[in-house]
Amino acid sequence: MGARPLIIDCDPGQDDAIALLMAIASAEEFDLLGVTAVAGNVPLAKTEANARRVRDLAGWPELPVYAGCPRPMVRTPVTAEAVHGPSGIDGADLPEPSRTAEEVHAVEFLVQTLAEAPSSVTLATLGPLTNVALAIIKNPSILDNVAEIVAMGGAIGLGNVTPAAEFNIYADPHAAHVVFEAGVPLTMVGLDVTRQAIATPARIEAIRSLETAPAAAVCGMLVYYGAQTTTKYRHGPPLHDPCVIAHLLKPELFEGREMRVAIELAGEHCQGRTVCDVHGRSGAPNARVLERVDADGFFALLTERLARLPVATP
Ligand code: BDR
Ligand code: CA
Repeated sequence: MGARPLIIDCDPGQDDAIALLMAIASAEEFDLLGVTAVAGNVPLAKTEANARRVRDLAGWPELPVYAGCPRPMVRTPVTAEAVHGPSGIDGADLPEPSRTAEEVHAVEFLVQTLAEAPSSVTLATLGPLTNVALAIIKNPSILDNVAEIVAMGGAIGLGNVTPAAEFNIYADPHAAHVVFEAGVPLTMVGLDVTRQAIATPARIEAIRSLETAPAAAVCGMLVYYGAQTTTKYRHGPPLHDPCVIAHLLKPELFEGREMRVAIELAGEHCQGRTVCDVHGRSGAPNARVLERVDADGFFALLTERLARLPVATP
């Protein structure tokens, strides 16, 4: 089988940055067509610049990065500097990016690429779903060319940004609704599974021992991110977004079930909640919801992929 055409939509974010590195290091499996950035963990100007910093770090400065939507569809914007730091990737200590972003808007890139792609394209989404939802609204026929969407977001159980909601869905619930109702194969990589992918000190040290610039940046980010989340996660920070890339590379590391997932759009306490119909009471499934990951297998895969990246930036 050839490499699978892939677009990554993201809001870097330390865990987004690590997911990007993992994907860039997987050239045999992925034909990475471009990276689209969206406002999320930090404002758009920072997420798109961070994506460009990461492509430089990975030794692929020509990888096209497209800036997308600077705010969600309906709700007031929310960001997460308290978790990710003012830059979004605090701890990485990366220089200014070498090149600018592409001139084309991310939504236009998604529409054009999906409309014209000779074979169907996989979408990996690591942030709020604004760019992808607007592309679908702009030209619904692009869905015919989407192989699948693998989305980090939501939870069967508790949220992280509110008791009920996970950040990516809460940050743009209306966009999430559009994507979850789009009728394409969708895998929800929610907190139930990503909270099992914990970067313990031993796992961080295994990455540090690679002694490369990307590995050092990953460890710096994990130490920072871990310190910010220590009251929630005592053993280390969860690697949410890299689970999306790991699932595309090695689905056998994960277990999940098909179910119907509805997005709570309003609600006094539950806006952005993914209402997961575990018991099949509300209609046909629209998502495969991941529930378990082999965490040792996940970190072995991550470490092995990071080892493929160049030792130092050119
Ligand atoms: C998600 O929100 C962000 O903080 C992370 O980058 C991840 O995509 C986890 O809720
Ligand atoms: Ca993210």
